[in-house]
Amino acid sequence: MIPQPPDPTQVVQTSARGKILSNRGIAKILIQAITLCHNSAKITPSESESSEVSRLITDQNSLRRELRVKFPRNHGQLLPALHFLQHEFGYLPDWAMEVVGWHLGIPASEVYGAATSYTELRIQQPRATVVRVCTALSCLTQGAAGILSNLEAELDPSSANSRFTLEETPCGFLCGMAPAIEIDGRWHGRLDPQSAVQLVRNVANG
Ligand code: FES
Repeated sequence: MIPQPPDPTQVVQTSARGKILSNRGIAKILIQAITLCHNSAKITPSESESSEVSRLITDQNSLRRELRVKFPRNHGQLLPALHFLQHEFGYLPDWAMEVVGWHLGIPASEVYGAATSYTELRIQQPRATVVRVCTALSCLTQGAAGILSNLEAELDPSSANSRFTLEETPCGFLCGMAPAIEIDGRWHGRLDPQSAVQLVRNVANG
């Protein structure tokens, strides 16, 4: 029997994060990258973004000045520059990623591709409380999946009014206390699905 070529509509590829993307998923990423390319009219940060940036960086010109001082104009500076944005803003605003692309001479699609390939980089503005659940091996074997699904159900992070950003994170090097979660930069261990929700609520309520 003669082998048949694969159906081109079913082709899949592996992203840098190791996830399997369908053609539709790849098209979505490309559309987002193209949107970023055409967003130069919105290059100035919004009021809410401006309120969160450092005193020094309030617009594209001040960011360009800062990038000129800190990052030589070469391709290898892309990841350090994105980490710098994440540190300054708490996430990667579209306008700031575009300025990084201008500074380093890298296409916006490549900047966006790098930004979405690393779990430690965030392209959405975080909510008031950021909860990260370790889903590396030790935590998974100790019940991290149950914690994650319970937090999703109880905190409703996808709702527009939610106060919580919920993310997965690689190993936080607290494996001896697995399963572990991070709340606003502080790690907590030996949790179960119920105690994790209670802890998050306690921290969020101060
Ligand atoms: S595997 Fe979760 S802290 Fe190491």
